[in-house]
Amino acid sequence: MLIDKSLYGRILRKKTELDSLRPFNKGALENLRESFRVEMTYNSNAIEGNTLTLGETKMVLEEGITVGGKSMREYLEATNHGKAMDFVETLVKKPKIEENDVLNLHALILDRIDPENAGYYRRGLVRISGTDYTPPNAAKVPELMKEVYAMLNSAGDPIETAARIHQKFVDIHPFVDGNGRAARLLLNICLMRKGYPPVVLLKTDRKRYLESIMKAQNKGDYEQFINLVAKAVERSLDIYLDALGKTQSSYLSLSEASKISKNRYSEEYLSLLARTGKIGAVKLGRNWKITKEELEEYENEHA
Ligand SMILES: Nc1ncnc2c1ncn2[C@@H]1O[C@H](COP(=O)(O)OP(=O)(O)OP(=O)(O)O)[C@@H](O)[C@H]1O
Ligand SMILES: [Mg+2]
Repeated sequence: MLIDKSLYGRILRKKTELDSLRPFNKGALENLRESFRVEMTYNSNAIEGNTLTLGETKMVLEEGITVGGKSMREYLEATNHGKAMDFVETLVKKPKIEENDVLNLHALILDRIDPENAGYYRRGLVRISGTDYTPPNAAKVPELMKEVYAMLNSAGDPIETAARIHQKFVDIHPFVDGNGRAARLLLNICLMRKGYPPVVLLKTDRKRYLESIMKAQNKGDYEQFINLVAKAVERSLDIYLDALGKTQSSYLSLSEASKISKNRYSEEYLSLLARTGKIGAVKLGRNWKITKEELEEYENEHA
């Protein structure tokens, strides 16, 4: 198990808690769906270099209006990604993911942006800017991709499998462009098929995201990337639990937590534990929050 033990424990607990809330409230679920559609589109496209802000992405996806000063391409990247996410939802319900599904997903990502390549594997070499990695020869792509499809339909820990699929996919780099966006959606398909909420790889984590991809590629060291994905899973579980009604308790601010801390942790110390992922705190808006249960669990472990 490459996922940090306490992080994994929290994820399993929160996943069980989320499952206990099924069937979910329809209205709350629809709100979550809308906000993840915007958040994922914004972040995934921003990682790729799109300059639309979160607010602009929301306007484009929800009101269908173009934004002044931005190119048609950037606008299309947003609407295409929104459609690709709708397609992801249908794929999640399929018992088996096949080559055509992934090609169709890619066709949506590059729709009207690069019609010659949208939905087709590359026919030549591809370079990845900022790296000196050379992806495999184009002739080998269809054969190599078989392993991705096999992994997509395999059992195994959903988080670890999702991260490995993402890695395998970007290493093959099957398309001329749009590989990162497709990989991030495949990662989600894998998680969502196992009942996890969708995850967002944040633009603010771009540096760590690229670093950890290279680590996995060069040294076969997946730990950093898998943990990046696991943290994204925990974040989504927190958001889902918060929106769908927590059963146990509500969140405390770190200042409130500090006041009831048995180990007399200061607010600053709790903040450090939160930022380094050591304690099960969540960032809601700008502030770190923690439940009484998470605080108690950590304090008991470190009494
Ligand atoms: N060293 C690397 N080896 C393989 N893949 C990499 C490497 N560094 C980055 N990547 C992946 O390649 C992606 C960029 O490829 P490409 O331009 O085809 O995708 P994109 O969707 O257009 O853009 P982006 O992925 O940047 O959003 C990165 O997002 C990342 O997922
Ligand atoms: Mg690109």
